[in-house]
Amino acid sequence: MAESAGGCCRCCCSFIFTLGLTALFMWLSLRTSNPTCSIQYFYAPSLNRTLNTTNSSLYFDLKLDNGNKDKGIYYDPINLTFYYGFTPNFSVGNLTVPAFYQGHKKNARRRMLVQTPSVPWPEARTNGTVWFRMDLQTKVRFKILFWNTKREKISVSAPVEVNATDGKKIHKKGIKLKSGAPERWRNRAPVGLLGILATGILVVF
Ligand SMILES: *[C@@H]1O[C@H](CO)[C@@H](O)[C@H](O)[C@H]1NC(C)=O
Ligand SMILES: *[C@@H]1O[C@H](CO)[C@@H](O)[C@H](O)[C@H]1NC(C)=O
Ligand SMILES: *[C@@H]1O[C@H](CO)[C@@H](O)[C@H](O)[C@H]1NC(C)=O
Ligand SMILES: *[C@@H]1O[C@H](CO)[C@@H](O)[C@H](O)[C@H]1NC(C)=O
Ligand SMILES: *[C@@H]1O[C@H](CO)[C@@H](O)[C@H](O)[C@H]1NC(C)=O
Ligand SMILES: *[C@@H]1O[C@H](CO)[C@@H](O)[C@H](O)[C@H]1NC(C)=O
Ligand SMILES: *[C@@H]1O[C@H](CO)[C@@H](O)[C@H](O)[C@H]1NC(C)=O
Ligand SMILES: *[C@@H]1O[C@H](CO)[C@@H](O)[C@H](O)[C@H]1NC(C)=O
Repeated sequence: MAESAGGCCRCCCSFIFTLGLTALFMWLSLRTSNPTCSIQYFYAPSLNRTLNTTNSSLYFDLKLDNGNKDKGIYYDPINLTFYYGFTPNFSVGNLTVPAFYQGHKKNARRRMLVQTPSVPWPEARTNGTVWFRMDLQTKVRFKILFWNTKREKISVSAPVEVNATDGKKIHKKGIKLKSGAPERWRNRAPVGLLGILATGILVVF
């Protein structure tokens, strides 16, 4: 009797161990990470002294990086909002990047221009450097094998310092857009899966 009980226990242990490994593997393969958004180029022709123009557009090059090894990303339309200075509500331009799909380990560039006539350009030209801010809001779905995750909101932002002599952004390196709030625990699918497995283990007992 004692021997058969021991065998059963061993069997149970290896069963639970296998379940645990499966859960861990599933979690690792279903884990998703948000795309990295950065501003590679930012130029205000109106602040280029040599050019002497009143063209009030802002040029920028937005880079979206899908760092996931084997998951594609469906982007909803991406809302971009531009702000002048550090006043939170001083929006000077809006733009929408059309929805698109991005394969795994791919990056996408969006070189665009936005009309920003409401920037107080004469005032800006008197400054050594001028600060702008770009907010990016969208929702993404991750494509995992044959199914798509639920839509997840992405809301990131970055300040950009522009040289008021040549109109280009001060720092040569790309500026990463960051979320104001700490990243919450995303991707509930594996958590749900772990829950199901845990219930299974309880039922076995
Ligand atoms: C500023 O304007 C001058 C004259 O058109 C041009 O040669 C120069 O490339 C512009 N600067 C930038 C940063 O684009
Ligand atoms: C800039 O352009 C205006 C008119 O377009 C002109 O009156 C002014 O002299 C120009 N300034 C320079 C520095 O070239
Ligand atoms: C500013 O320049 C861009 C590109 O050269 C052009 O598409 C846009 O219409 C210009 N805007 C104005 C107000 O001239
Ligand atoms: C921003 O908000 C402040 C106070 O809430 C208000 O006084 C100001 O007029 C607003 N500015 C703009 C550009 O909406
Ligand atoms: C940009 O969109 C926001 C929200 O829809 C709006 O409050 C703001 O006035 C818009 N700004 C411009 C410059 O159109
Ligand atoms: C103008 O320059 C001052 C001092 O460097 C800075 O605090 C301010 O934010 C600048 N204004 C804008 C709109 O960037
Ligand atoms: C983007 O803007 C559109 C139009 O204002 C709005 O319907 C949509 O919900 C916005 N998307 C996000 C992610 O905020
Ligand atoms: C702004 O650009 C001018 C001309 O390219 C350069 O001489 C100056 O050092 C730059 N200023 C800053 C703060 O980078």
